[in-house]
This record gives sequence, C-alpha cells and structure tokens, in this order.
Amino acid sequence: MREVAIIGVGMTDFGELWQTPLRDLYAEAVVSCLKDAEIERDQIQSAWMGCMSSGLFNHQEHLASILSDYAGLRGIAATRVESACASGGAAFRAAYLEVASGASDFVIASGVEKMNDGADATFCLATAADQEYEVYHGVTFPGLYAMIATAHMHKHGTTYDMLCQVAVKNHKHGAMNPKAQFPMEITTDTVKNAVRVAEPLGLFDCSPVTDGAAAVLLAPVEVAKALGKPLVTIKGSGQAVDSIALHDRPDPSRIPSVGMAARKAFEHAGVTVRDIDVCEVHDCFTIAELCCLEEIGFYEAGQAGGATLAGETALGGKMPVNTSGGLKSKGHPVGATGIGQIVEIYEQLSGLSGDRQVSGARLGLAQNMGGSGGSSVVHILEVK
Ligand code: COA
Repeated sequence: MREVAIIGVGMTDFGELWQTPLRDLYAEAVVSCLKDAEIERDQIQSAWMGCMSSGLFNHQEHLASILSDYAGLRGIAATRVESACASGGAAFRAAYLEVASGASDFVIASGVEKMNDGADATFCLATAADQEYEVYHGVTFPGLYAMIATAHMHKHGTTYDMLCQVAVKNHKHGAMNPKAQFPMEITTDTVKNAVRVAEPLGLFDCSPVTDGAAAVLLAPVEVAKALGKPLVTIKGSGQAVDSIALHDRPDPSRIPSVGMAARKAFEHAGVTVRDIDVCEVHDCFTIAELCCLEEIGFYEAGQAGGATLAGETALGGKMPVNTSGGLKSKGHPVGATGIGQIVEIYEQLSGLSGDRQVSGARLGLAQNMGGSGGSSVVHILEVK
C-alpha cells in the first residue's frame, strides 16, 4: 500500500442555508478544495461522496452523477457512499484505499447533506434506526440516545452536569469557528433550562439540523512533497458495523462499533491512544461524546464525564476534544460530518486553526458514527 496525504481541503459554512441548493453546496466545497490544493479539475480521476439521504431530504438520487457534472467533473469515476451519519467517514476511507492501492493518484473524498429543504428531518433521520424494532414503536434518535444516557447514568453514576459540560465546552470551541452553525458560548444553566427533547436530554444536548458540505483531496505522499505543503498523511483507518437496534447489544450504555473501528485504526497506524494530541468525536448528542471517548480508550468506562467536568477535554486541557465545536455547535449535516472532522484535524496538524490551535499537535484522530452506533469509522492522521 502507498502512503497517502491530504493535499487540499474545502468546506462550506454549516447552518440553515435555505438559499443554497444541494448541488451548490457540493460545488462550493469541491471548488475551494481544488483551489486550496492548486490542482486543476482535469487531474481528478475519482470522487467518493458521503450522503445519507438526498432521496428523502431533497428528492434527488443518482447523486454522484448530478453533483460531479455540476462541479465540472464530468467523465471521472464517481460513487456515492451511504452509512447514515458515518457516510463522510466511509467515503474518506474509500478514497484513501483507492489512492493507497495505486489505482488512482488524485481522488476527492467529500460529504454533503441538505437537511433543510422542506422534508421532516426527524423522520428522514429515523430511517437509519431499526424500522421494525425501534421506529415503528415511536422512537427516534433523541429517544435512542436518551436511553443510552439513562443506562450510562444508571451504570456509572454519570450526572447531568457532566452532559451539560460537553455542550458548554463544545459551544466555547465553536464560538471560535467562523463556519459553525451556533457559534455562541453558553452556560450550564442554558443547557439545564432549555426545552426537554427526550428525558434526560434537552435542546442543548442535541446536535442541530444542518446544511453543509466538505471535501478533501488525496494523493500519494510523493505528490504532496512536491507541492511543498504541510505533509499530513493518513496513518490509520478502521471501520466496523454492529447491530443497529439497542436491544440487540449486550450493554445499552455502550457503543461497541466505535471501539472496534478504533482498535483497527490504532493497529493499522502502529500507535496507541496515548499518542493522540487532538481528536474530533461524534457528539451527535452530549452522551455520545462521553461514550465515544470511552470506547476509543481515552478513558475507562464511566470516567469521561468526570474528566470533562475537570476540563481535560477542553482546549488547553490534557486531551482537547472537538476543537471545531463538534456536531453540537459546528452543526451536523449528517453525510458531510465525517469529512468536516477530517478538515478540522488536517488544519490542526497543519497549524492553521488560529485561536483553536492545539500547540504542537502531530497526531490527530477523527471518529464518525452512523445512527446510534450501527457503524463507525476512525482515522488517524499524522503531520510529518
Ligand atoms: N441546539 C441549540 N439550539 C437549537 C438546536 C440545537 N440543537 N436546534 C434548534 N435550535 C434553536 C433554533 O435556532 C431556534 O432558535 P430561535 O427560536 O431562537 O430561532 C429554536 O431552537 C427552535 O428551532 P427549531 O428548528 O424549531 O427546532 P426543532 O424543535 O425543530 O428541532 C431538535 C430541535 C433538537 C429536535 C433537532 O435539532 C434535532 O432533531 N436534533 C437532532 C438531530 C439528529 O438526530 N441528528 C442525527 C444524530 S444520530
């Protein structure tokens, strides 16, 4: 396998972008990515695009063709990838493997989702849960994560103050991110006093409904060296699926696909969790950030909440988590999220994160998850 580097990134604002059609979101991300890489369109050989549900959200399928054509990439090999909210991470892995295998030299990995287009977002998202055993009985994602939170609280003594601190911390980071959907600082009282969505989770425990796109360009490491750019390489890649329905898992307070994907990525990279300097994890709900940190191995089961309250996961702390603002503050355009995470880690490792910079970061991790954890993708990036 060849070594692979990221040679350019591009991203739209994340938010309620009612005036911007799906195809313009994609084109904006791709055009800014190619500009960043200083690569011409006719050099691109292939594109993998993560998108969860353009059929339900936008009544548009056959996405790889329509988006590539609109972005001026007619003739390339292009494929849409779907793994619910992990679609972006899965698209990145497919693009990485294509370049690593030697099949292509210039491959775009992207993600795009336009969730504000008139459709019922809660209904569209719920198609990624188990229809027969979960959705037919009335439960949607806030309800599923509320059950995970309740089980975690019962088993480990996790408190609501710990969940609140995840939101407070991520909004603090997001307030420094000009592309974030909700770039404002909040307090614990904001989270506690917000309208309840599914007990124990309230409005500020939830990621929002978001439009956005992100793209990265991958190439063999020799090409990146010749361009004279910061050399950010993909050191590890892991992916795993698990049962979708919570009742099929031995312990509903856990999300095992995250750990399975992380172990594969660490083994591939030849590093351990202690080597990681900065990470983006899939905080679709506040409880998810704690579960993901524990499954990846940053903390023992039940310990991530206390560490969050102690400030360890904030910028300046021992293990900065979700410096972009995470899904909670930056926003969660589901198919684009995994690529947005890669953009943040690339910028951190390149020293381009401005006020959010983690000084001296050399190794970063991005973890992207589908639904309530039926799928997970983990990547480890390194700057040489
Ligand atoms: N955090 C903070 N504020 C939010 C918010 C969020 N997640 N979502 C919406 N708001 C704000 C809006 O800006 C708006 O503020 P305003 O009244 O000052 O303008 C207000 O709350 C109401 O917005 P609205 O769009 O009507 O909210 P909603 O009730 O339709 O949706 C949720 C709120 C939490 C139910 C929705 O965002 C949601 O379903 N989130 C989870 C998404 C999800 O499941 N993703 C997949 C994960 S697996």
